[in-house]
Amino acid sequence: SGVERLGEMIAEAKVIVPFTGAGISTECGIPDFRSPGGIWTRNRPIEFGEFVAHQEARDESWRRRFAMEEVFAAAKPGRGHRALASLYRAGKVPAVITQNIDNLHQASGFAGEHVIELHGNTTYARCIGCGQVYPLDWVKRRFDEEGAAPNCTACDEPVKTATISFGQMMPDEEMQRATALSRACDLFIAIGSSLVVWPAAGFPMMAKDAGARLVIINREPTEQDDIADLVIHHDIGEALGPFVGN
Ligand code: OAD
Ligand code: ZN
Repeated sequence: SGVERLGEMIAEAKVIVPFTGAGISTECGIPDFRSPGGIWTRNRPIEFGEFVAHQEARDESWRRRFAMEEVFAAAKPGRGHRALASLYRAGKVPAVITQNIDNLHQASGFAGEHVIELHGNTTYARCIGCGQVYPLDWVKRRFDEEGAAPNCTACDEPVKTATISFGQMMPDEEMQRATALSRACDLFIAIGSSLVVWPAAGFPMMAKDAGARLVIINREPTEQDDIADLVIHHDIGEALGPFVGN
């Protein structure tokens, strides 16, 4: 089966780079974006330009984030996260490239510097002007006191979750590190992503072009199934469960 073949490919590989999307965290209770019931099937994304320009967009963005707080706070790593952490501890995975913002790779045992977050992290906030970091409960308190999304105490620019919105610049260092890893691995595994959001979706192809084997694990077909060496259309927890070690 596909999972057996994946086991052989993992055994044969020297450097494995996993690339994850929202599908790896759905079993942890966090909705993805494009499945039925996904975030973008319910709400239109608030683009970075709107966030910068309009207080109302900032308020709405923070209301949405606060509404998700219980979900994010309760989420624990799933079987996919734990399988990747096992391969990391075994020395097969130097780092994980993720589009996710939920901090669950860190929670599963990856050191922070080995989680390359292309789209940032939603578990803290940052000033879009000076970069000052704020805890979410600071934002919540200020929002409740003022009835509106707060600005930075240092420079008075808006404070935003430390995530990358549509229309916002990609983080330079993360893009460079993801590029180098994609080119250096011999097995690249795309897990739980529809592979439609660029530039992130360019990494599987980059790895393939540089000579790596490409595996895609996703419940539904993706944009890039046709270039993969192995496609596993299966539940991620089921597909990666056998690789959860100790
Ligand atoms: P998507 O919602 O586009 O894709 C998630 C994929 O995971 C879907 O194809 C699902 O079928 C699949 N899936 C969900 N649960 C699964 C499970 N348990 N087992 C197997 N497959 C499962 O999410 P991403 O590709 O991560 O960016 O989205 C990419 C980017 O779009 C996000 O990082 C975010 C979003 O807009 C920004 O906001 C900048
Ligand atoms: Zn500031």
